[in-house]
Amino acid sequence: MNRPLKSSSRRPTFVHLICAATIFSLLVFALQSVFFTGYLLSLANSFHSNPSACNFNHVLPILSGNRTSSLNAEDVQILSDFQSDVQQCVANRGFGLTAHIIDHCKLILKFPEGTNSTWLNPQFKTYEPLEYKYDVCEAVLLWEQYRNMTTVLTREYLDARPDGWMDYAAKRIAQFGAKDCSNRKLCEEHLNPVLPAKPPFHPRQFQKCAVVGNSGDLLKTEFGEEIDTHDAVFRDNEAPVNERYAKHVGLKRDFRLGVRGTARNMVTILNGSDNEVLVIKSVTHRDFNHMIDMIPNPVYLFQGIVLRRGAKGTGMKSVELALSMCDIVDIYGFTVDPGYTEWTRYFSEPRKGHNPLQGRAYYQLLECLGVIRIHSPMRAKRAQDWSDVPSREKIGRAHAAATRLKRSQEGEYDKVGQFGNCKVWGDAGPYGSGPVSGPRNMSSRRRNSNYSKWEIMPFKSLRQEAQEHYNQMEGVSLYKMDGNKLDDLVCVRHS
Ligand SMILES: *[C@@H]1O[C@H](CO)[C@@H](O)[C@H](O)[C@H]1NC(C)=O
Ligand SMILES: *[C@@H]1O[C@H](CO)[C@@H](O)[C@H](O)[C@H]1NC(C)=O
Ligand SMILES: *[C@@H]1O[C@H](CO)[C@@H](O)[C@H](O)[C@H]1NC(C)=O
Ligand SMILES: *[C@@H]1O[C@H](CO)[C@@H](O)[C@H](O)[C@H]1NC(C)=O
Ligand SMILES: *[C@@H]1O[C@H](CO)[C@@H](O)[C@H](O)[C@H]1NC(C)=O
Ligand SMILES: *[C@@H]1O[C@H](CO)[C@@H](O)[C@H](O)[C@H]1NC(C)=O
Repeated sequence: MNRPLKSSSRRPTFVHLICAATIFSLLVFALQSVFFTGYLLSLANSFHSNPSACNFNHVLPILSGNRTSSLNAEDVQILSDFQSDVQQCVANRGFGLTAHIIDHCKLILKFPEGTNSTWLNPQFKTYEPLEYKYDVCEAVLLWEQYRNMTTVLTREYLDARPDGWMDYAAKRIAQFGAKDCSNRKLCEEHLNPVLPAKPPFHPRQFQKCAVVGNSGDLLKTEFGEEIDTHDAVFRDNEAPVNERYAKHVGLKRDFRLGVRGTARNMVTILNGSDNEVLVIKSVTHRDFNHMIDMIPNPVYLFQGIVLRRGAKGTGMKSVELALSMCDIVDIYGFTVDPGYTEWTRYFSEPRKGHNPLQGRAYYQLLECLGVIRIHSPMRAKRAQDWSDVPSREKIGRAHAAATRLKRSQEGEYDKVGQFGNCKVWGDAGPYGSGPVSGPRNMSSRRRNSNYSKWEIMPFKSLRQEAQEHYNQMEGVSLYKMDGNKLDDLVCVRHS
């Protein structure tokens, strides 16, 4: 927006004068309508920044002098059709929810009258509402972006991110005792065991993945074999995987997300599963490093967390992680069925607890946006059929329309292409130049294990789709700057 004008050395040509005159007359025309001021400023700015072009695509919507039609009617139509598909999908999926469309982006999901909310908000002394409003356009933009994202913290990210090493790195270490990393060596000591130089995993690396939650629901079904047919299986915290539960939760172990409190028991949990990747959800600390010394497994830190309280459930992080490397994400063991009144884990005694409606509504939305496929006891009783979930092609069209609308509404015409949200750019060194993760003094057991196998895996052995994606992205890795905001990506080029 505040680009300097570069007109000093060049004389305006005839075309420029025509453009300028057109814009001037439009400005006069639109002065009556304050609404367009911001739009015209951006238009004038795009003219200045690119004086050799006189782009009338930007100009035409103004002539109609009407906000609704300044949105591209075709895009609004695409999104309205998509809303109807989502509405139909919600109705068909059988969890009892209904979708009520407000406009081409917004809709409300409603639980049926009489649904019991058992989740009492202790602060406000209220039970959960039965209605949840969503912006489907924003949701599609956010979740499609995860398919292209790196969700593991790397050295190249800390190098590229402004204040990456100083402030951000310190936030990822608990019990650190210093408020920033002015003692860089100390920070490195804490982070090295979990910090690869470059992304160890890639978008599209796996075709089909299973994310297995810990719900007691799992004992009502026998999804074990089905779960094990996936290319990668993601599990949570201390979830046991053994013969006792095999028919319910399967035996395959590839990824495990752990919150900070799980460090204590992880050695036992990972015993016998040397290749299982542990991804720490929030922050690392001394106990983790001590634990990592004792295990041969790869261990990384999740990237993309909201560094505040109130994230929408920990299960969501597993979905984000899976989506950043898998085409299809099947979820099991997330309580979604209606009429569920207790909080249980498949490996512990049932107890009274919450069954948040908010989460259930959101998972249903995600299913109808093609992000996840939900498997549950209720679903197990009927033949699985995903034909009412919008196809990848439809989702792609809706995503493109939502992108154009968002950019036109915000007057951000210069944010184009797949790198439109790249706020910060960085360069990684050539492949093979950076160190793999691990402290210098790591145990010999670890050194001789496969802990770095994903980091040193040759590009050629990646799945075809992952290679194609890498090439289409021109070797650029995308990282979220923070939290659930759509914009502000950190983008790192690889030579
Ligand atoms: C804007 O255009 C739409 C559709 O063309 C029309 O329904 C609406 O009444 C218009 N609004 C105004 C304020 O002119
Ligand atoms: C809600 O709870 C009441 C009382 O426990 C029960 O009678 C009713 O059937 C429940 N409704 C639903 C939809 O589960
Ligand atoms: C790991 O499992 C093996 C055999 O199942 C057992 O002998 C060993 O004590 C276990 N180690 C730890 C640290 O739990
Ligand atoms: C490696 O060094 C760190 C920091 O000096 C220390 O905490 C850790 O115990 C050492 N690990 C081994 C295996 O010696
Ligand atoms: C490391 O992985 C390779 C191939 O996956 C395997 O052949 C080898 O046995 C593994 N080594 C260890 C120590 O687990
Ligand atoms: C994701 O990557 C694909 C290439 O595989 C690209 O065509 C698409 O524009 C990207 N989408 C987003 C939201 O970055």
